[in-house]
Amino acid sequence: MSSKLILAIETSCDETSAAVIENGNRMLSNIVASQVKSHQRFGGVVPEIASRHHVEQITLIIEEAMREADVTYEELDAVAVTEGPGLVGALLIGVNAAKAVAFAHQIPLIAVNHIKGHIFANQLVNEMKYPLLSLVVSGGHTELIYMDNPGSYEIIGETRDDAAGEAYDKIGRVIGVPYPGGKHIDEMAHKGKDTYHFPRAMIKEDNYDFSFSGLKSAFINTVHNAKQKNEVLNDENLAASFQAAVVDVLVDKTIRAVKEKQAKQLVLAGGVAANKGLREALTQAVKNEAEGVELLIPPLDLCGDNAAMIGAAAFVQLEKGEFADYTLNGRPGLSV
Ligand code: KG4
Ligand code: ZN
Repeated sequence: MSSKLILAIETSCDETSAAVIENGNRMLSNIVASQVKSHQRFGGVVPEIASRHHVEQITLIIEEAMREADVTYEELDAVAVTEGPGLVGALLIGVNAAKAVAFAHQIPLIAVNHIKGHIFANQLVNEMKYPLLSLVVSGGHTELIYMDNPGSYEIIGETRDDAAGEAYDKIGRVIGVPYPGGKHIDEMAHKGKDTYHFPRAMIKEDNYDFSFSGLKSAFINTVHNAKQKNEVLNDENLAASFQAAVVDVLVDKTIRAVKEKQAKQLVLAGGVAANKGLREALTQAVKNEAEGVELLIPPLDLCGDNAAMIGAAAFVQLEKGEFADYTLNGRPGLSV
């Protein structure tokens, strides 16, 4: 097979990223500029600030990705970009940069769904095999997605309210850790014990949906009640109890789904895939309860937002000739 090169761009939230990917599975470069420090003092991503940073960074990041990959624009087979979901102003910066590259060098433009990108981050490390089941857990999404082949996506379960990462970030604010709280709560959880026994919402229900807002409320009530009584709670135990509740439900429903769907692989994806507790519990559960299923977990640097995963997903579309035209727009609410 002749080698195919894709320049990929990702600007859906608060990372400006560009990557060059060969044949959908080999990373020649993956440059990620995080804006997290600019948003931290606001306790969350401020869309206007995100867009402004993307504008300042995008050209430099693309050039750096091309330089590090040692590839010329003439060698590219396509340019791919995240079209959604995400912040509309942020998406537009990437989309316009990609259109400019496509037009200037007369190469095809590929529009990629961010969620599909997260799933395909795994392809950069291991060959994905079908049928597979993916647990997508990020700041904006919590979904169980069944894939019969590389181009088919069936959402078999999803959150009815907060995404897992969103719940982490919200309770992180209550405990007082910097935004985004997920990573900090994860670290604290490992030093504590599940002493508060928060609810495992919907764990017994006969479906693959999730709910995290009740857990979030239970957590916040526990902290507020203690404050009113001047009681001091153990933050590490609080974090461990919260994490245990999240992980229990995610793992329980995912294992049930992987067995029912008779998937060959279970593929973890999204920012919360970096969670140590989840990685460990899922590994253990597959070993004990889903023998024969191959578990793929992306390395930590490919769990969060990055352009390499967009390039990996785009390769499937390149092979099928699924191209976008210059009317491409940011689609903030795009689903899989
Ligand atoms: O996929 P991602 O980078 O952005 C979205 O597409 O949403 O995910 C970001 C989310 C944030 O909510 C962040 O707190 C969470 O991933 N996260 C974690 C961990 N690392 C990042 N959540 C729990 N444990 C972690 N170690
Ligand atoms: Zn993401």
